[in-house]
Amino acid sequence: MCGIVGYIGEKQAYPILIKGLKRLEYRGYDSAGIAILNGELNTFKKIGKVSELEEYVKDKNINGNIGIAHTRWATHGEPNDINAHPHNSQSKNIAIIHNGIIENYSIIKDELIKRGYKFSSETDSEVLAYLIEDILKNVKNDLAEAVRIALNQVIGAYAIAVISKNEPDKLIVAKKGSPLVIGIGKGEFFIASDATPIVEYTKDVVYLNDFEFAVIKKNEELDIRTISNKRQTPYIQRLELELSQLEKGGYEHFMLKEIYEQPRSIRDCMRGRINAEEDFVILGGISDYEQKLINAKRIIIIACGTSWHAGLVGEYMLEDIARIPVEVEYASEFRYKNPIIYEDDIVIAISQSGETADTLEAIEIAKTRGATILGICNVVGSSIARATHAGSYTHAGPEIGVASTKAFTAQITILALLSLSLAQKKGTIKKSRFHQLLNELTNIPKLVEETLKTDDVILKIAKIFSNARNFLYLGRGYNFPVALEGALKLKEISYIHAEGYPAAEMKHGPIALIDQEMPTVVIATNRGTYEKVISNIQEIKARKGIIIAIVTKGDKAVKELADYVIEIPETEEMFVPLLATIPLQLLSYHIAVIRNCNVDQPRNLAKSVTVE
Ligand code: F6R
Repeated sequence: MCGIVGYIGEKQAYPILIKGLKRLEYRGYDSAGIAILNGELNTFKKIGKVSELEEYVKDKNINGNIGIAHTRWATHGEPNDINAHPHNSQSKNIAIIHNGIIENYSIIKDELIKRGYKFSSETDSEVLAYLIEDILKNVKNDLAEAVRIALNQVIGAYAIAVISKNEPDKLIVAKKGSPLVIGIGKGEFFIASDATPIVEYTKDVVYLNDFEFAVIKKNEELDIRTISNKRQTPYIQRLELELSQLEKGGYEHFMLKEIYEQPRSIRDCMRGRINAEEDFVILGGISDYEQKLINAKRIIIIACGTSWHAGLVGEYMLEDIARIPVEVEYASEFRYKNPIIYEDDIVIAISQSGETADTLEAIEIAKTRGATILGICNVVGSSIARATHAGSYTHAGPEIGVASTKAFTAQITILALLSLSLAQKKGTIKKSRFHQLLNELTNIPKLVEETLKTDDVILKIAKIFSNARNFLYLGRGYNFPVALEGALKLKEISYIHAEGYPAAEMKHGPIALIDQEMPTVVIATNRGTYEKVISNIQEIKARKGIIIAIVTKGDKAVKELADYVIEIPETEEMFVPLLATIPLQLLSYHIAVIRNCNVDQPRNLAKSVTVE
């Protein structure tokens, strides 16, 4: 879970690398480093953010036209200067950056120690640098070949970039499990973990596949091979990403920008997929699998974190209107539990980044057992998007804030479209009802705009509760996953302990926590189990608890009981999560800002979790 970036060409590498690291900082931010070739191989690394590295290298020799850089999220060895990347080989002639985990590193390390090598870091990545050097010395004196041989010995996941003082005309990259994209400029090349550091220089990119490596030289064609040495033809794709999407656009934080982007991102997600006049939904990416979906006896949704919450909303939708049984599994549990999977099961993997290691592995397991795998991803060309049989992109645009916001509502939008489409085709919904729901879904972006106007009220509530030590979030039915998501948002960016619960479950335990100190956020909108939720609120009030309620505009009954209310527009029960989530995102955001937390880069977290 790190970011890697590299450059080879005529330009000075340093400005490109440092800017690239800043774009990738969402992937990891506990230390950063850079290695540049200019006759010498100069490597500089520093614990802390990229800005600290920038400060550190101010008086150093950072000239050179070839370089690699890394921003780290520690897995092996604590964050410090030594464990930061790039790692040099023992002779200091080679530098390597690595994203992933070398699982058999300790066996290789022991072997190398026996041969007299002395390691300086605790990382698995340094072992790879030493191994390459050992192969260069003893087996094959050619960097590309040594990298290839080394990769045949390692087990695990990697995206790597390697440079050497002895072969200063090339940059070598390789991938298995972790993402790596190569940008093709005029006689120059850029490499990175995703396209964000590349887009301002070129839109022509090649996504390296697993078990491929590339030898990159300026002014030459890309030389891509498999690690068994089979030459590959590069498949050049055109990026649709725009530079403006990667900037804050006047907002104080990416998270706030992304919360406010939701009317647009939901609209973009639906664009071209709804024909309201002729009453149908078309999810082009999965149309080849439509019949399988219609016949499916079961859908299994696999995901992690916020994407898992979206999966839960999907479960309610698909069961409610398309009448298909759905199981929602944490990918990390699914992969290790010897799951029962039938060939006619449809597995839907949901992932913003498309790189989450547990979700990827769960896909592989389901695949080997013959299931059809569909993906709902945000990042185009990501590993999950490529590992699935088919899928629908959410088109929410780049999500840079580590806490997921607009990707969540876009994932729910896709699941709503899928549920509607299946319900119509299976005949589990009346024509008039389908029409009503489709119309309402088309109207959701406007209702989200209206919901965002609650921001001032939410800020006031945030000021009152920013020092709370615990929060409880309650919801029932469609609003249960919203409660889980609200609690997750608060804890990840404000570090306040929060728990999400189905409201009725409260009396089976959490009710013991209720007192005058602990605010309970209740999503109490006017459909479904409204009356039951009111009873749950009364139970809390009877124990002197504090209620912050998300209610439907015009609500009276909850208002009488609650201490604070946030009104959202009325909508169909099925779409309430698309609105009710917004105030919870804003509440976490404001509380985190008041508490002086780093909203976009919360401690210990990274945007894409490419390790187990
Ligand atoms: C929470 C958050 C995480 C991710 C999770 C899965 O705000 O961002 O819980 O949702 O790590 O990531 P993706 O969706 O990229 O697979």
